[in-house]
Amino acid sequence: MQILFGILAIFIIVIALFWILVPAFYGLPPISSRNERIRRALELANPQVGERLYDLGSGHGRVLVMAAKEFGLNAVGIEAGPVQCAVSWVNAFRNGVRSQVRIEAGDFYKSNLIDADIVFAYLTSDHANRLQEKLSRELKPGARVLTVSFDLPGWDAVFFDREQLIYLYKK
Ligand SMILES: C[S@@+](CC[C@H](N)C(=O)[O-])C[C@H]1O[C@@H](n2cnc3c(N)ncnc32)[C@H](O)[C@@H]1O
Repeated sequence: MQILFGILAIFIIVIALFWILVPAFYGLPPISSRNERIRRALELANPQVGERLYDLGSGHGRVLVMAAKEFGLNAVGIEAGPVQCAVSWVNAFRNGVRSQVRIEAGDFYKSNLIDADIVFAYLTSDHANRLQEKLSRELKPGARVLTVSFDLPGWDAVFFDREQLIYLYKK
């Protein structure tokens, strides 16, 4: 019995370490956006049913689930943390939007955003320069970008929500 408890404890510790350490390695805490903030951001982008949204660093999948469930979008999350990816998958399944949500485990700088209609990113200003270069290179004209709590250098926001710190850009 003691051995079983020991194995369980080690398992839980390993999961907890992965949950915290992988995002930390990428310089971010595993914190999800609040639902009102996500809803406000998505509304600003004026999403149309069937459009494709990417969440760069999709955490526990809150943005993906809301985008699919409330706005009828096809949502793609790219997330480095394996525990976050697993939680996102469960969240999408529980909310009945598995067929509209795709979760890719990995580094979003290595993925191509050519088919994105909307890009959501809740990161820090450390990512701003590298991200704006990637978005400038890959996004199609007309794609919208939502950044939360940081802005994109060299891009003019078409809207800025001062209260929620949300920037909306159009390519
Ligand atoms: C602040 S959380 C935001 C989560 C989610 N987008 C939300 O708004 O609820 C940032 C997430 O980005 C992930 N992340 C940071 N850099 C990444 C990278 N280069 N590739 C993939 N995921 C990354 C972290 O693991 C973390 O889960």
